[in-house]
Amino acid sequence: MTIEILGVEKNLRGTKITVKHSAVLPYTPAYTFFLRGMADVIDSKFHLQFTEWNDLNCGIVWAEDEFNNIVGCICYDRSYKDSFIPQIYSILTFVDEKHRQIGIHKIMYRYFQRQVSNLKCSVITSNVHHKNTIRLISAEKDGFVPLQYLMIKKI
Ligand SMILES: CC(C)(COP(=O)(O)OP(=O)(O)OC[C@H]1O[C@@H](n2cnc3c(N)ncnc32)[C@H](O)[C@@H]1OP(=O)(O)O)[C@@H](O)C(=O)NCCC(=O)NCCS
Repeated sequence: MTIEILGVEKNLRGTKITVKHSAVLPYTPAYTFFLRGMADVIDSKFHLQFTEWNDLNCGIVWAEDEFNNIVGCICYDRSYKDSFIPQIYSILTFVDEKHRQIGIHKIMYRYFQRQVSNLKCSVITSNVHHKNTIRLISAEKDGFVPLQYLMIKKI
């Protein structure tokens, strides 16, 4: 596993944010942050209670604060990288509650999109719960547009 430093930036409070990347999700320092974020989103009822990814198909971009604490991540799945429309599926973007609204997602997203381009993919897909209004707004800021409703009926 190789960890790359993609860049060093300042958040909206002016403190240092280091953006890192690993093309392989397992064994990264951000692994449990990602799992806790996913559990948090499930507990918020913004995701169903199941694991949709295979670790080995996933990579992760994450952000560390000036004390080297992980404060955010974007985990992605490259299973469809070689499909008819080469695409990357963003499994989860998550920012620690105490570090929200200071631009961390925006910083991570810029670097994440560059990784997607490096993989020669021109499309990013993401599932967002229809009531997750904050992510719907931030996704729109990232340039995403809603495409379809996933309808579900439990029987
Ligand atoms: C969605 C999330 C990742 C945004 O992270 P963040 O670091 O706080 O976002 P940023 O500060 O970079 O803001 C990016 C944009 O999102 C929007 N935004 C972020 N928080 C917002 C809030 N509380 N209310 C309204 N808009 C908000 C803003 O439009 C902002 O752009 P702007 O600064 O140009 O106005 C974060 O709220 C989060 O982790 N939520 C819980 C996890 C989750 O639901 N993930 C998505 C699962 S699909």
